[in-house]
Amino acid sequence: MATKQTQLEHIATDILESNICQSLAETAHNLVMGAGNVDADIVFIGEAPGKNEDEQGLPFVGAAGRFLDEMLASATMSREDVYITNIVKYRPPNNRDPLPEEKAAFWPYLLKQLQIIDPKVIITLGRHSMEYFLPGMKISDIHGEPKRVQFGDHKVVIIPLFHPAAALYNGSLRQTLIDDFIRVPKIIEQLS
Ligand code: URA
Repeated sequence: MATKQTQLEHIATDILESNICQSLAETAHNLVMGAGNVDADIVFIGEAPGKNEDEQGLPFVGAAGRFLDEMLASATMSREDVYITNIVKYRPPNNRDPLPEEKAAFWPYLLKQLQIIDPKVIITLGRHSMEYFLPGMKISDIHGEPKRVQFGDHKVVIIPLFHPAAALYNGSLRQTLIDDFIRVPKIIEQLS
């Protein structure tokens, strides 16, 4: 059986060979698949790479990423404890919102990543990744609340959080995000 890392690398090869979102691929520098601990209990799913992520080929390495690090630290965690990825794996030009067809094109590959990593909890960051797991729900109504969902034969708990970029210049949203995240270890403890 191939290691999780090798299986994840095959997904990247598949995306490249299948020319997924060719027009995004043409303007991007890197395919940003994800990073972190492939055996993690928690997977974070953001929206799409920005400028820094596109340049480095890694998720959440800019200002939003620094805030994500702060959130992790507030719950005495670090990047080595979690896996971080995005729904869309190429940077949209000028950081525009990802289009519905771009999210739909990458969705099956995100599901494959999740099946390999097999986390207990998925934390969606912002509405773009939340809407796929919890269709029809509003982040302002349900942020921080664990929701059980099933996709394929996988049962998982989704915790929808606001996107760290939205909280960067909004003090109360920033505190809400930290307060929501601090409760995550307790939620995981109650699951097992
Ligand atoms: N915002 C995201 O949604 N993802 C990243 O990787 C960086 C910023």
